[in-house]
Amino acid sequence: MCGIVGCVTSERNAPYLLVDGLRRLEYRGYDSAGLAVIKDGEIVTLREVGKLNNLESALKASGLGGTIGLGHTRWATHGRPTQVNAHPHRDGSGKIVVVHNGIIENFRELRAELRDQGHVFASETDSEVIAHLIESCYRGDLAQAVLEATRRLEGAYAIGVMHADHPEMLVGARKDGPLVIGLGENENFLASDVTAALEHTSRFVYLDDGQVAELTRDGLRILDASGHEQPYVQTNIAWSLAQAERGGYPHFMLKEIHEQPTVISDTLLGRLDETRGEIVLDDLGIDDEAARAISRIHIIACGTSWHAGHVAKFYIEQLARIPVEVDYASEYRYRDPILDPDGLVVAISQSGETADTIAAMRMARQAGVRVVGVCNVIGSTISREADGSIMTHAGPEIGVASTKAFISQLVALLLLALRLGRARGHLSVDELRRHCLELRQLPQVVENVLKTEGRVLEVARRFAGAQDFLFIGRGMNYPIALEGALKLKEISYIHAEGYPSGEMKHGPIALIDERMPVVAICTRSPVYEKVITSVEEARVRDAKMIVIGNEGDEKITEIADETIFVPHVAEILSPIVNVVPLQLLAYFVARERGCDVDQPRNLAKSVTVE
Ligand code: AGP
Repeated sequence: MCGIVGCVTSERNAPYLLVDGLRRLEYRGYDSAGLAVIKDGEIVTLREVGKLNNLESALKASGLGGTIGLGHTRWATHGRPTQVNAHPHRDGSGKIVVVHNGIIENFRELRAELRDQGHVFASETDSEVIAHLIESCYRGDLAQAVLEATRRLEGAYAIGVMHADHPEMLVGARKDGPLVIGLGENENFLASDVTAALEHTSRFVYLDDGQVAELTRDGLRILDASGHEQPYVQTNIAWSLAQAERGGYPHFMLKEIHEQPTVISDTLLGRLDETRGEIVLDDLGIDDEAARAISRIHIIACGTSWHAGHVAKFYIEQLARIPVEVDYASEYRYRDPILDPDGLVVAISQSGETADTIAAMRMARQAGVRVVGVCNVIGSTISREADGSIMTHAGPEIGVASTKAFISQLVALLLLALRLGRARGHLSVDELRRHCLELRQLPQVVENVLKTEGRVLEVARRFAGAQDFLFIGRGMNYPIALEGALKLKEISYIHAEGYPSGEMKHGPIALIDERMPVVAICTRSPVYEKVITSVEEARVRDAKMIVIGNEGDEKITEIADETIFVPHVAEILSPIVNVVPLQLLAYFVARERGCDVDQPRNLAKSVTVE
């Protein structure tokens, strides 16, 4: 999730406005930053790895000024976080610069095509291709060139573009990536979100998918996809800066829960190829032959990532028929595991910096076992050291309690299972296509699940005073019960236990009385009736039953004190759907109790010590 800022102003302080704007986007996380201005008819760029302070120091040292510019903070997806890969990117003539947020799915094809035409590329990024594409479409009208170029782009983008021959003009365009225009007094802005320009204006225009904006310091033209000028609507934003950083949500955690439909789309982007019946995982480093040779898989992770690993065990064993063991990384590294050179270790880590997971991964690699990292942070230790990787594209997660990163891990691990299943002949092309179709519908399904928010809030208000909670689920939803319990204890400090429902009568049932709320995941699956039986067992012992069921399931209404209904989906997608109301439940309970939701006591976002 990169950050974009552009400004065209009457003062010569544009680069400083850009750095200020980028600082407002720091909450999104980044690994490098850069800016470009037009000086004496030429583009000048500054790009630095690491903190924004590095860019600011470089700017001060350069004495650079200017009335127009583009700035960018990069969250690497394609290509490591290096100076060369940092934005802005130039075209071949050096006259055009582009900043980009998103992922260009067909960048390889475009790069090959442009190379054949003589274009030379400097970076490993997908973004650089946009600058060269605009160059090849440019015939004197920048907005028109951007329009033409964007017609060739597949994937998601929000871009800002500047041309040395148009020293008073910025052009912006978007598709499935956020971009707003800020209208100031004798100055205008382009930004990933309103925070970047809120200090200078409260008047914003939200760009729609497919539109192109042409900004000067006192004018704005919006063109539709066919190049026709369109009227636009100004929105007055009365947020404080702190509110704006959270997109108007009271907490990052709630914002991140609501980002999950987009995160699913981003994690799927460019990876489903129905035409060829393939799952495309470019950096996996395992071809079909190697996939067929895998004797077994060891998943190592901690916390929420470990729960994702448990769901993955179901995915991989069902779809690829490879035996899977799941370990806490902290246990694996000390228990002298049997390391099979024909096996595969999958290290799951949002941050890619968890000390135990890194140590376990290194141990496996030293023993000659291939390791695949499933990470959210490109350039992190695990993503760098693993033999192959699957990046999860959840964007920076600020809330300490992991939500959107977990969902993106589940999607990435399902893609891995489908990829292995196809390579090993357990899935036909038609079966794979059916899974792809269902996955493509998933963002909309999760969008619908988020509509349960009001209902979940009612339930949370009723039970916010409870001292203990029990979460039960079965099959691939039993790890989701564990995750529901972990979320609740992390942020509300209520004691919560997660169990496979079949285990309830082997112990935890002793805890049940009328003060114990029990959350049961009871959506349709081959073990549905088994979970219903556990619900009955808890109910007759006076537990207060909160049941997550499928819309239209009358039986659930009869046996539950409180119901939360979610859409029915294929069983393999049910963990991704069912975890959402549990995240919301934890969030609302914690909020009702006045807890510090985003920074719960004693917890760190990334546990870099043993
Ligand atoms: C999740 O809500 C937690 N904060 C925690 O369990 C986390 O998942 C764990 O520390 C692992 O982190 P990682 O995914 O960055 O390795």
